[in-house]
Amino acid sequence: MEKQNDTSRRLFLKKITVAGAAMALAKTCSNETVSAQAAVQPQSESLPRRTLGSGTAAFTVSSLGFGVMGMTYNRSEHPDKKHCVRLLHDAVERGVTLFDTAIIYGPLTNELLAGEALGEFRHKVFVTTKFGHEVINGKGTGRQDSRPATIRLYCEESLKRLRLDAIPLFYQHRFDPAVPIEDVAGTMGELIREGKILHWGMCEVSAATIKKAHKEQPLTAIQSEYHLMHRDVEQNGVLATCRELEIGFVPYSPMNRGFLGGGINEYTIFDPNNDNRQTLPRFTPQAIRANTRIVAALQNFGRTRGMTSAQVALGWLLQKAPWIVPIPGTTKHSHLEENLQTLAFSVPKDDWLHLEREIAAIPVMGSRYNAEQQRQVGY
Ligand SMILES: NC(=O)c1ccc[n+]([C@@H]2O[C@H](COP(=O)([O-])OP(=O)(O)OC[C@H]3O[C@@H](n4cnc5c(N)ncnc54)[C@H](OP(=O)(O)O)[C@@H]3O)[C@@H](O)[C@H]2O)c1
Repeated sequence: MEKQNDTSRRLFLKKITVAGAAMALAKTCSNETVSAQAAVQPQSESLPRRTLGSGTAAFTVSSLGFGVMGMTYNRSEHPDKKHCVRLLHDAVERGVTLFDTAIIYGPLTNELLAGEALGEFRHKVFVTTKFGHEVINGKGTGRQDSRPATIRLYCEESLKRLRLDAIPLFYQHRFDPAVPIEDVAGTMGELIREGKILHWGMCEVSAATIKKAHKEQPLTAIQSEYHLMHRDVEQNGVLATCRELEIGFVPYSPMNRGFLGGGINEYTIFDPNNDNRQTLPRFTPQAIRANTRIVAALQNFGRTRGMTSAQVALGWLLQKAPWIVPIPGTTKHSHLEENLQTLAFSVPKDDWLHLEREIAAIPVMGSRYNAEQQRQVGY
């Protein structure tokens, strides 16, 4: 698999240094933040690249992607559409080429936003999306539907919402026990041959399912939760299988839904109508209070290296393998800048190992999902 492109990395480091200096300057005169940023924004195509998948399934993207979900769904209050479009354009300008959405986010509103903001850049950036959760008349039913005819229908509808001729990477969002994975993989192969999608992937599946699916139609990427507080994919064979079969890996919720960024405490109120964190055992006030030790360890690690805890969380994932591309989500320009800056840091392997051991010794309170959400993963 392709390693990081050194030339683009050098160029990026140079440009991001200029951008960083300008951000510092901009912070001293808050009214001028936007114009100062705009004046020195790095030109597009300036981020290092990574390749997900191999052979005909290879897909080269910026080393960090952008999770669009929280702009309309599950992350409490979000800014208005104009702001989101500007932020997505800013990400394109900064060289992000991988944007992640799904039919169920909203439902539909997230794809519509991504289509409106990014459709015009279809020849330059990639918007990946996901099918699987049944959506009828714009509402999720809570059921899975990965029957071939439904996949085809959802594909056509996503193409329209995203304003694309082909979906760059179409993921099965959750395994459907009623449809053999070979049938899903076969349908993906047909859609690739018809030019409706370019690549395919799956989320939160077992190593055995990945092997079966890949045999039928080569996979580009597996997307599962992975971060310093949730390392199941290291134990359940998923990462090892990706390595063996040269399939890319896209860690979702790379900062544990914002927790590792350090801005959440036991008093944080999540919007009861638009935030799934209030339903997660790991986000009860008691769990947040207990798990804050982990954020403190990240902050401590970052302090002497000039890194924030968000950058430590993302940097740890990036150094795990060159075929891993995290997709942090944000609604803020400052967080986008901070997250992309992660690519400019270089931390010795031994230091990461030390941190990893330190965090592993701290018990995590609360499971990541409630019983219903847990039931849908790991097939
Ligand atoms: N396949 C799946 O089943 C699945 C499941 C969940 C998510 N996903 C994908 O993964 C993407 C990211 O997941 P996520 O949103 O759950 O988790 P995340 O990226 O770990 O965290 C997002 C949260 O972190 C905050 N944040 C971002 N940068 C920050 C920084 N530098 N410092 C402090 N806080 C920061 C954001 O708030 P601000 O807006 O204030 O920055 C946001 O609320 C989603 O957009 C979606 O595309 C996939």
